[in-house]
Amino acid sequence: MKRFNEKISRKNTNCVKWNMVDDDVLSFSIADSDYPTSEEIVKCLTDRVNHPVYGYTFPDPMYYESIINWTKRRYGYEITKSNIIPTNGVVTSLYYAINFLKDKTEGIIVQTPVYNPFYSVIQDNGKKIVENKLIKNDNFYTMNFQELDKQLETNKILILCNPQNPTGRVFTYDEIKEVVRLAKKHNAYILSDEIHCDVILEGHKFTSVNKFASEYKNMIVFTSISKSFGLAGLKTSNVIIKDEKLADEFRAFLATKYIGSGNIFGLVAVKAAYNHSEAWLDKQNKHLTNNFKLLKKYLNEKHPEVGVTKTEGTFLAWLDLSFLGMPCEVMQQELLKFGISINEGKRYSEDCKGYIRFNFACSEEQMLAGLEILSKFINANTK
Ligand SMILES: Cc1ncc(COP(=O)(O)O)c(C=O)c1O
Repeated sequence: MKRFNEKISRKNTNCVKWNMVDDDVLSFSIADSDYPTSEEIVKCLTDRVNHPVYGYTFPDPMYYESIINWTKRRYGYEITKSNIIPTNGVVTSLYYAINFLKDKTEGIIVQTPVYNPFYSVIQDNGKKIVENKLIKNDNFYTMNFQELDKQLETNKILILCNPQNPTGRVFTYDEIKEVVRLAKKHNAYILSDEIHCDVILEGHKFTSVNKFASEYKNMIVFTSISKSFGLAGLKTSNVIIKDEKLADEFRAFLATKYIGSGNIFGLVAVKAAYNHSEAWLDKQNKHLTNNFKLLKKYLNEKHPEVGVTKTEGTFLAWLDLSFLGMPCEVMQQELLKFGISINEGKRYSEDCKGYIRFNFACSEEQMLAGLEILSKFINANTK
């Protein structure tokens, strides 16, 4: 686990997460990881850098092969090259998927609390946000299928987030099966953001909606190497559409918007990640499992009043601090003064003003230092 506990400064690397806070602040905000990516990825990128011409480039057959093999090995379903559309970012792809389907619906369903750009891609397409609130019970979130069933009668697009940001749910096979069944019943489209699908904590199993592609075709899946391998700065992603007709139509649509595939380094990194970095990924998932266990233990012992949501996947802890009675924007400012940066709950849902999102993709030492600061902040505001 040495690589994941390595101390490495990201200051002065144009890093959004660390350069926007003062030098004495520890950052647990933006969803990227603070440890080095796999040695194989660094090596492949270095080899490419060493060839000093960086002109126009395209995804080669090995690029597609790496995704096809990874998908089969890790997620258990088959795809071919024609199912894959390389793109340059999941949010961009989501925005254009809605744009592509804009005549199908006025309302678009999101399951909240959820990653905030889901709201803006809907609004920027001139569509209405329809909230299918997740149900919270004992610090664990589940879907409200009954309400979803009703909402799908009139709203023909659902944006699914699995694994879910910020709640960390990895929806089960049965839950995903039910979502697909409902979408089929109402002839609605599922846009499934699966960007966190490789980051699964021990004891959980990821199920893509594409596992049910033989039963239903109106589904678009979004994946990327960015969260899985600490490569968000490469802006490289893939859209996977099992239905070839839909895939061809979306590919042709994206061409009219001049959306190209990832950049030269992203194309190299995809192959290095999927072909050579599986062992690194499994080690990362162990490290994250351990970090989350420690985080939960620490908060349960020191501050049992904090609601620690059960994270099953992603590297995000979703913490309910509403017992403090402090709005999250104030909490965020106060925590900065104490020395940590987090994301405020409200950006994921108006209902979550007492929550913070705490990213634990860092060394154990850094995480524990952050928790100490959080603990001081809680003590200072409860005594
Ligand atoms: C659920 C989800 N989708 C998409 C993104 C961003 O993807 P991209 O940088 O490829 O646009 C994130 C980043 O945090 C995310 O959590």
